[in-house]
Amino acid sequence: MSPDDSTIYLNGRYLPRTQGHLSIDDRGFIFGDGVYEVFRAVDGELFRGEGHVTRLLRGLDALGIRVPEEVEDPGLLAIARSLLARNRHDTGQATVYLQVTRGAAPRTHHFPAPPVTPTVLLYTSPFQHPEGLHEKGASCVLHSDRRWSRADIKSVNLLPNVLAKEAARKAGAIEAIFVRDGMLLEGSSTNLFGVLDGVLRTYPPANYILRGITRDVVLELATGEGIQAREEGIPVEELPRVSELFITGTTTDVLPIVHVDGAPVGDGVPGPITRKLQKALQEEMARAEAPLG
Ligand code: PDD
Repeated sequence: MSPDDSTIYLNGRYLPRTQGHLSIDDRGFIFGDGVYEVFRAVDGELFRGEGHVTRLLRGLDALGIRVPEEVEDPGLLAIARSLLARNRHDTGQATVYLQVTRGAAPRTHHFPAPPVTPTVLLYTSPFQHPEGLHEKGASCVLHSDRRWSRADIKSVNLLPNVLAKEAARKAGAIEAIFVRDGMLLEGSSTNLFGVLDGVLRTYPPANYILRGITRDVVLELATGEGIQAREEGIPVEELPRVSELFITGTTTDVLPIVHVDGAPVGDGVPGPITRKLQKALQEEMARAEAPLG
C-alpha cells in the first residue's frame, strides 16, 4: 500500500491521506503551537502506549492547549489501533504519528479567546530499522544545544533539532548529540546513555532533555539486569574515558554509538552493557506484544 492510499485520522474523521487538509490558520503551521508523539507498534499493539499519552497530556497542560475530546472518547490509543488495522499495519512493525495543535484561529501571538477546538492528526507508517546498523554501531557528532530551555515538552518546534540532524547527516553520522554547559544531554531525536567507570549514566529528566519512553524502559531493564545506573550527565571532557555509548528512542531502540566526531568510543565496537540492554529491550517488546493470559 502506498502512503497515499492509507487512511489517516483528522479532527474526528477517518479519511484517505490525500484528503487530509488543514486550515492555513492552524497554529501548528503558523507558530509551531502544538505537541506530538511517535508510537511504536508491534503486531498492532502499541509499545508503552499509555506512557506516550501521559507525556502528551503533560505537554498540552504545560502549553495551555485544551485536551481534545478524542482523549476521552474514543481514546487516542483506540484511534491509533483502528488506523493500524485499517492500514494493515497490524502485523509486523509500524509507527503511529500523533499531533495536537492549539487549533485554527486568526493570527495573534496570544492564545485565541475564546479557545478553539484543537487540531488532532494521527497517521501510521510501516517501520524497519536500517540494515545492520544495530549490530555494527553508528557515529555521532557533537552539536551545541540551541534549543529553548523546555526541551522536556515534546513540541513540534523542532528547528534546532532539524538543523542538528542535518549537520550530523552531512558529517556522515546518524545523530547529533546536544551539548550544553559542557554536558552531553541527548540526541536530536534520541536520548543518550554512556558507561563511565562501569556505571551506566544518562542525563537527569529535568527541563533540558525530553524524558524518553524508551529511556525509562532501558533504566528499568538495567535494574533488572543488575547493571548499576545513575541519572547523572556525562561531561564532554570525560568522553575519552567513556567505555560505551548508545542512543535510545521509539524508532531507534538501543543503538550503539562507536564513534563521536570521528574518535572511537572505548574499543570502537559495541560494548557488553549496550548488547545486554539491546537484547533486553527486544525481549521486552516481544513480551508486550504477546497476548495476555
Ligand atoms: N523522538 N529526545 C528527543 C529530543 C526526541 O525527539 C525523542 C523522540 C527522544 C526519545 O524519546 P522516546 O523514547 O519517547 O521516543 C529523546 C521521536 C521518535 C521523533 O521525534 O521522531
